[in-house]
Amino acid sequence: MAEIEAIPSPGKKYRKESLMDLDPVLLRALLRERVHHNIEVPLYPVLLRQQLKPIPNFGLQAQLVFNVWRERGLSEEGTDLEWVKRYIDIAARVRKGERPDIPELEASLPKPFTASEMDVVRKLIWGRCSIRDWTDEPVPDSLIDQIMEAGRAAPVGCNLDAVRFIVLRTSGEKSMIWSDISIDNAVIIVICFDNRISATVGQDRMVPQNLGYDAAAAADHMLLMAHALGLGGVWLSKTVKSDHTEDTGRKFKELYGLPDHIDVALHIAVGWPASGIIKSKRVPLSEMIITKKT
Ligand SMILES: Cc1cc2nc3c(=O)[nH]c(=O)nc-3n(C[C@H](O)[C@H](O)[C@H](O)COP(=O)(O)O)c2cc1C
Repeated sequence: MAEIEAIPSPGKKYRKESLMDLDPVLLRALLRERVHHNIEVPLYPVLLRQQLKPIPNFGLQAQLVFNVWRERGLSEEGTDLEWVKRYIDIAARVRKGERPDIPELEASLPKPFTASEMDVVRKLIWGRCSIRDWTDEPVPDSLIDQIMEAGRAAPVGCNLDAVRFIVLRTSGEKSMIWSDISIDNAVIIVICFDNRISATVGQDRMVPQNLGYDAAAAADHMLLMAHALGLGGVWLSKTVKSDHTEDTGRKFKELYGLPDHIDVALHIAVGWPASGIIKSKRVPLSEMIITKKT
């Protein structure tokens, strides 16, 4: 089998020895990222080639990281590791010139929703609104878990999974959060990210904005799920220090005792709605589409 000795990530070069010492959280992120960029992204154009010739180097960077993962005896259980192993196997076949059978492709093909499914989608997308007033009825943990699960399903840059959540319920915990509204009756979910992960794969140099985007995508999924569960939610900005506010993220980080590598991106507040609102309306689509003036 062809072998490689090092993985060139943007601004980094990992040799096997350095991977043997890498924190498992970061190694897992690198593994997910390499499988994504070194196998998943180039795979489908490769498969479309009529005659698949052996591609000796295909997926070898991902394979190297996986070999280290295995050699270190790290757990191969978990849905993301199953996904990793699936692609590692497919890449090994492509290296030999085989055209691997991938039955999952059929099930993942987008198909138009039925009319009644579309009604639900529109109801969710256009019915969601920002609720800023909540009753004191407690929100069960099971619903908060469903909201975080929805955040977990959101798109993530480079397939890194660096988003992290903190759930705040008590008034003491919530007092660490700056907000322009009263959040006494709300559960706050702080959406953070692990900044070591982006540095590990060089994302911090190539696409530093992605970590904030990942958190934002998670927040949107979470607010949609909160709405579907009958809860009212709102996005709360993380302010940076100005004359009339304090740096919410930094204050929270200090008071909550977060490690340096966890950065706060934003918060959402969810709870049982005390009242509805006059739903805000958007500008017409025609004003949102920019066309080149001739
Ligand atoms: C990036 C972002 C930051 C926001 N920050 C706040 C905030 O700090 N406080 C707040 O009450 N609402 C905040 N919101 C909610 C917006 O005010 C709200 O989405 C907007 O007015 C449209 O109303 P709708 O959500 O009901 O459609 C924020 C929304 C976004 C996307």
